[in-house]
Amino acid sequence: TRVIVEYSSPNIAKPFSVGHLRSTIIGDAVANMYEALGYDVVRINHLGDWGTQFGKLIYAYKTWGDDKKPEANPIEEMLALYIKFHSEAEINESLVNHARRWFKKLEEGDAEARAVWKIFVRWSMAEFRRIYRILGVKFDKEQGESFYEKELGNIIAIIKKQGFAKESDGALVVKFPREELPTALLEKNDGTSLYMTRDLAALHYRLKKMKADIIIYHTGDEQSLHFRQLFKIAEMVGWSRGKTLVHAEHGLVRLPDGKMSTRRGRIVKLEELLTEATRRAYVVANKKNPQLSQKQKLTIAQSVGIAAVKYNDLANHRRTAVTFQWDKMLSLEGNSAPYLLYAYARLHSIIAKARVSPKLGGMNEDEQTLIRRVAQFTDVINEAAHAQAPNILAHYLYELANEYSSYYEKYPVLKADPAVRQHRLAIIRAGADTLKAGLALLGITALDKI
Ligand code: ARG
Repeated sequence: TRVIVEYSSPNIAKPFSVGHLRSTIIGDAVANMYEALGYDVVRINHLGDWGTQFGKLIYAYKTWGDDKKPEANPIEEMLALYIKFHSEAEINESLVNHARRWFKKLEEGDAEARAVWKIFVRWSMAEFRRIYRILGVKFDKEQGESFYEKELGNIIAIIKKQGFAKESDGALVVKFPREELPTALLEKNDGTSLYMTRDLAALHYRLKKMKADIIIYHTGDEQSLHFRQLFKIAEMVGWSRGKTLVHAEHGLVRLPDGKMSTRRGRIVKLEELLTEATRRAYVVANKKNPQLSQKQKLTIAQSVGIAAVKYNDLANHRRTAVTFQWDKMLSLEGNSAPYLLYAYARLHSIIAKARVSPKLGGMNEDEQTLIRRVAQFTDVINEAAHAQAPNILAHYLYELANEYSSYYEKYPVLKADPAVRQHRLAIIRAGADTLKAGLALLGITALDKI
């Protein structure tokens, strides 16, 4: 069974937002779980690299951009051009027409439009790749909206031929039976394509060319109408028969002190946020293990900081809004990445110091409970994957860590006689392995020492 998991999908020439961060973290975990269950998983980054906004940007770049100086901060430069365009367009209406013409040229393959567009793509991808490296996230395919450029005409023709596309004021629209959903735009009256057109082309490509059985889209819940329209059209034209299409929508991200939107121009640079996480994790590592070298502490802080950001997100159901509460995220006591990582490191250090091999004897009741819990692992992955809900796995790992912490406090391992030690070690080993494997599915690397 082939599952396409689409996630991250940031927009070229715009900042990588905290919303895209959520999509990236959850999508990656969902893809990991399907893979662990033996599905044939294809991970796709559906980059937002096409659309009318590029007409505006190309116009702005050609009018106000400075192509002589190499850009030190291209993302901010592009954002500034975008903002400049909008404020100038308020005074001068003809700008909108210029922008429209530039996008039309871009879609028609005009060399100049293409060249400027390529600059934007290069600038943005450099930033996105840095972020993916920090997060340890990979894709099988970077197939952005522009990838489907050549298919757009064909897609519109298919839908037209089936009688679902109607003309309306020179544009092409799809109306839904009994008006169950608002009318969807397929082509503008100047012949240019829309987000929906490109999503239809992507869907068609994935079902027909890539032979996907299941497609899962990870985006914010503000796009839920768009996906309901998309899936409905796919059903009407008969593409999705026997296939499963899922919009794994997620809720908002709230940042500390309420800053979050790009609309008011208050952008949060994602890299700064991740650096902040690492900086704070360093403080924790330093307190916990002051005897470690500076270098060890830095390595730990890097892992723990990113793990804290990921786990904070994954511990909640994706529809729940998440908040960055640094203290909670980095606490060693609560339901946090540091707590789980610490639980793993404790189990690991018991195993490392035991100097006997694990060997299971008869189990007491506490131990039977633990082993039964361990045995649920596969079922939990199954359930979490099929609900696109990594929080189910996160919750399981948290309980497992809790139960194991009680176990090694109640039943000393290292101080026990060799036979008892071997036995307890076998129990510990099962928990440590499960915790490590489970964290890996969440995109978090367990550390032997933290
Ligand atoms: N680039 C879009 C955005 O940032 C997300 C793309 C989601 N995927 C899709 N197939 N439409 O809003």
